[in-house]
Amino acid sequence: MTNFDSTAGSPGQVRFFNPGPVWVRPQVMQALTGPMLSHRSQAFMDLYGRILEKLPKVFRTARTAHTLATSATGVWESALVSCVEGPVLALSNGAFSGKWGEMASRLGLETDTVKFEWGESVKPDAVKKKLAEKKYAAVTVVHSETSTGVISDLAAIAKVVHENSDALLFADAVTSVAGTRVETDEWGLDVVLTGSQKAFALPPGLALFAVSERAMAAAKKKKFRGLYLDLVDIEAFAAKKQTPTTPCLPLLYALDVQLDHILAEGIENRWARHGAMRKAVEDWAERNGFRVLAEAGAHSPTVTSLIPPEGVNAEELNKTLKGMKWTTGSGYGKLKSTNVRIGHMGDVDVASVEAYLKAHEEAMASMRSKAGSAA
Ligand SMILES: Cc1ncc(COP(=O)(O)O)c(C=O)c1O
Repeated sequence: MTNFDSTAGSPGQVRFFNPGPVWVRPQVMQALTGPMLSHRSQAFMDLYGRILEKLPKVFRTARTAHTLATSATGVWESALVSCVEGPVLALSNGAFSGKWGEMASRLGLETDTVKFEWGESVKPDAVKKKLAEKKYAAVTVVHSETSTGVISDLAAIAKVVHENSDALLFADAVTSVAGTRVETDEWGLDVVLTGSQKAFALPPGLALFAVSERAMAAAKKKKFRGLYLDLVDIEAFAAKKQTPTTPCLPLLYALDVQLDHILAEGIENRWARHGAMRKAVEDWAERNGFRVLAEAGAHSPTVTSLIPPEGVNAEELNKTLKGMKWTTGSGYGKLKSTNVRIGHMGDVDVASVEAYLKAHEEAMASMRSKAGSAA
């Protein structure tokens, strides 16, 4: 295997810096090859029981944390179809938060949006103002907007929502949980979710999430909740250490192994490592004339969207890095041609992020020399 392979090597050698799916440790890849089991067997219940024991520790909840064989988006839908009958307030400050609001309208729910510029965090005061205007059944928010590299103050947003309404708070923690502090119980997050391919550093295909008692009570009152995404069914089966439908067994083997790794590292140490990777990117950007898109004080610990200095073309930089066998993130959506995105999440470390940033310097030097010889 080469270093270009997304699963090869040790953290210090990684050349795969996509903002998800992220690099996966070889030990985790190995775990995917466990034997097939009936998901109603004791062996499965032993495996799932171990996961249900460990997963809540990462979500910081005394309740159950769940898995579902969908990508993260499946749980956006699960929360809405299981729990919500009234209007939804979508807090939108980037591509993913905007899309969650769009999903609510596509489901036929009356949806209002509080919109912030790309690069801005969600402002609790604006949320409070909107909540005073109307009664909402649920509020959706994205903690770390992967499209812009902005992290919002989820604790403050949760406080405003709970102090000023009875709305359920649904939090997308796709690029935050397992990478930075997410306190499900302490902050009162009613549904909080991620996908396996982000800070958990697993292959894609599995959603991981927790549901509050309040959200579960709302779901039990709702008559039509669909079937595959029904939180009531999911919780009832979890009580038997099972899933309602066939689970993605290979990913559960991998999750079991990876949870041991995450808990052995220590969840707070893991947050600190992500904080150190963010700082390495910020310092490098400052030294090299790159501007961080995210507003000051709201830089995500897991992903950074950077605007290159005058004269450096973002798309050419990405192309050059790809040619040098680095997997890198381009700007997202409308920022595709103007920004580069650095994923710094999962099991990679500061040394590997620094090597990746150094490669940007080499790529820019090669672009300059190419432009010089063409002139
Ligand atoms: C913040 C955020 N929310 C939701 C998603 C969608 O996740 P998935 O593709 O796993 O459904 C992503 C994917 O990158 C994301 O970054």
